[in-house]
Amino acid sequence: MSMFRPDLLNGHKILVTGGGTGLGKSMAEAYAAHGAEVVIWGRRGPVLAEAAAEMQEKTGGTVIPMAVDIRNAGAIDEAMEEIFATGPLTGLVNNAAGNFISRTEDLSANAFNAIASIVAHGTFNTTVAAGKRWIAGGHRGSIISIVTTWVWTGSPFTVPSAMSKAGVAAMTQSLAVEWGPKGIRANAIAPGPFPTKGAWERLMPEPLAKKTGAGTGASDIPMRRFGEHEELANLAIFLMAPGCDYLSGEVIAIDGAQWLASGGNFHQLTKLDAEDWEMIGQAIRSTNQKDRSQRTT
Ligand code: HXC
Repeated sequence: MSMFRPDLLNGHKILVTGGGTGLGKSMAEAYAAHGAEVVIWGRRGPVLAEAAAEMQEKTGGTVIPMAVDIRNAGAIDEAMEEIFATGPLTGLVNNAAGNFISRTEDLSANAFNAIASIVAHGTFNTTVAAGKRWIAGGHRGSIISIVTTWVWTGSPFTVPSAMSKAGVAAMTQSLAVEWGPKGIRANAIAPGPFPTKGAWERLMPEPLAKKTGAGTGASDIPMRRFGEHEELANLAIFLMAPGCDYLSGEVIAIDGAQWLASGGNFHQLTKLDAEDWEMIGQAIRSTNQKDRSQRTT
């Protein structure tokens, strides 16, 4: 059950990148359920269209799917122009991300780019595409970027993600100051373990889960459970809502106090051997291969 009035976001227009699956979909649906017009971006057209139809059906709201790969700066600008042509966004959620676990010494320059081009470059380009239009039109705006608690701890075995997410946290703090006088807020949410297919298959692939039990229990989390998507959505609604206008420049963890208790997420992986990493790499690549074959852009 929602903790907010169903009309709380009436008149809002919010873009959620990576809004067709996982945490992005949960936040997008919650915005639509509270009266906002929602636009979702993602790489796989059919997946997005299906998610949008499902959300509209469930919420009675408006959800517009647009197949946009945020690794492509030109595509971002074109799509943003199209969105603003029918009225300015009021909010942007930078949720799209890529990540997989690997020993850092096994990563090629291309592997680093696969993550950084989405998380660092894609987030920057999307934010600027919205921000410059807000500034030019004299509109207010609110940016929420989804990061991780690794922005404070770093994270072994996910170095490109930790570096890129730390950059997004720095962007959040910087823009809160630079764009604050223009009525634009920037905040970030650092979710802990909220199970989703995209992240779990790449961060807890089956051979790893079997060997270590990682991802199967919540005994290291002080709250002794994983997060519910609705709990994350509540925070995402709160940060967009009227009445939240003085909150800017913050990175807010929502993780059952996990990071305070255990620091970085993957330190246990230092116990794995070369054969384990071979199996894990194959499992992740086969997931990536499956996803690529469904893409339309
Ligand atoms: C070493 C690997 C590898 C592995 C891929 N590569 N997997 N290297 N170990 N396990 C290398 C490849 O060999 C290649 O380099 C390069 O990375 C790119 O590989 P592709 O398969 O072409 O990648 P791509 O199709 O671009 O897909 C990668 C991806 C994908 C974009 C990162 O995982 C994806 O689409 N993810 C979206 C969903 C997702 O990941 N969500 C989770 C976000 S979780 P070479 O040199 O061979 O060409 C998150 C934080 C979670 O952000 C926090 C939880 C607490």
